[in-house]
Amino acid sequence: MERTFLAVKPDGVQRQLVGEIIRRYEAKGFKLVGLKLMQPTRELAEKHYGVHKERPFFAGLVEFITSGPVVAMVWEGDGVVASARKIIGATNPLTAEPGTIRGDYGANIGRNIIHGSDAIETAQTEIALWFTPEELVTWQPSI
Ligand code: CMP
Repeated sequence: MERTFLAVKPDGVQRQLVGEIIRRYEAKGFKLVGLKLMQPTRELAEKHYGVHKERPFFAGLVEFITSGPVVAMVWEGDGVVASARKIIGATNPLTAEPGTIRGDYGANIGRNIIHGSDAIETAQTEIALWFTPEELVTWQPSI
């Protein structure tokens, strides 16, 4: 079954949007299989955003993502990678559609509330980076 990695960033946690964000994915019918609140280390952040390491915003991005608690999640479902990105909206909250998480709550491109894997392969890499296999729970809905 397809899985994706989502992380509520420090701005989303501080603005108390964790419940609202989880609600959107539950309402859509996706299954939560991994969840933890953690303050990422610099090493984890640099690996996670390694693809951006030559960009001018890299240092600020790592600084920000390590600045406070993050809610790391793994969600499961058909087409969850692309669908989760649609629910998140465009990277820049100023151009993200209203109704998306970033369109509704994001302040600017550096404070855009949530991260979501951009492809199935990226999701697999990010899940393995943030979670051990034992932290992921397999369960079947009973209703
Ligand atoms: P995210 O989806 O977490 O993936 C990479 C992040 O880099 C992105 O969200 C933005 O928060 C950040 N980002 C991308 N472009 C810029 C930019 N031009 N300036 C600052 N941050 C950026």
